[in-house]
Amino acid sequence: MILDGKKLAESLREELAAKVSAFTAKHGRAPGLEVILVGEDPASQVYTRNKEKTANELGIRGVLHRLPVDASEETVLALVKKLNADDAVDGILVQLPLPKHIAERKVLELIDPAKDVDGFHPMNAGLLASGLPALVPCTPVGCMHLLALSGVELSGAHAVVVGRSNIVGKPVAQLLLAKNATVTIAHSKTRDLPELCRSADVLVAAVGRPEMIRGDWVKPGAVVIDVGINRVPLEGGEPGKTRLVGDVAYDEAKARAGAITPVPGGVGPMTIACLMQNTLDAATRRIASR
Ligand code: GUN
Repeated sequence: MILDGKKLAESLREELAAKVSAFTAKHGRAPGLEVILVGEDPASQVYTRNKEKTANELGIRGVLHRLPVDASEETVLALVKKLNADDAVDGILVQLPLPKHIAERKVLELIDPAKDVDGFHPMNAGLLASGLPALVPCTPVGCMHLLALSGVELSGAHAVVVGRSNIVGKPVAQLLLAKNATVTIAHSKTRDLPELCRSADVLVAAVGRPEMIRGDWVKPGAVVIDVGINRVPLEGGEPGKTRLVGDVAYDEAKARAGAITPVPGGVGPMTIACLMQNTLDAATRRIASR
C-alpha cells in the first residue's frame, strides 16, 4: 500500500475549509496566521509562500512577513511581541533555520504558547510529553494521519523512530507512545541500527540522510513513514539537475513494507495541512478560554 499524502492532505484541506468558514461565520472574523521569514533561503521561501497561500485558500487570514537576512534579533523579537499582543492573530510561525546571528531559542520562547502553531515552544513540548492538550508540531501530526490511513494497530506495536530532533523525532515518539506503541528512539549513536529497524512494526525515518535506510532493514509487512526530503544529484542527468529522495531507499523498502510513504507526495504535503488545522485549533481555544 502506497500512503498517498497528497490525496490525504487534499481531503484534510477540504474538511478544514468548511470548518474555517463555520468559525468565521460564528465569530465574525477569520482565524489569523502570521508567518515570519528572515533571509532568503530558497527552500524556506517556497515553504513560507505555500503556507501563506494555503491559509488564504482555506479562508484563514494568512500574512507573510519577510525580513532581510541582516535583520537584528531585536527586530524579530519586536515583531513577535507585536503579534503576541494582537488579538486578531491566532498563529505565529517563525520559519527555521534563522540566520546565525539570531538566537533561535530566544525567538521561539517568546512566542505566546497559545499561538505557537509549530508547537516548538517548550511549554507545548512539555504539555505533549505530559499527555495534556497542546499545540503539536505539524510534521509528526501528519505522520499520525498517514499511520491511521495505513490501518496499522499501534497499540502494542513496536515503533522505531530514527532521529531525535525536537521538530520530528521526539514529538512523533510522544504521539506513538500516547497510542500505546512501544517506542524506541534511535539516533547516530545507536548500535546495530539495521537489526533494530528489522524489529519495527512501524518505522519512522527522520534523519535527513538520503536513502540511508535500506530495504533489508524493513521487517516484511511493516509500515514505513519517510519524513526525509533530500535533494540529490540526478544520476545520468545534466550537471546541476537534482531529484528528491527520502531517508529510505524507496524501491527496496517498498518490496518488503506492508505500507510506505513516497517522497515526494507522502509526509511533505501533510505538514502544511496540519499547520492549518493547528491554526484553527489555536483560534478556537483562544476564544473558548476567554
Ligand atoms: N523548517 C523546516 N521545517 C520547519 C517547520 O516545520 N516549521 C518551521 N517554522 N520551520 C521549519
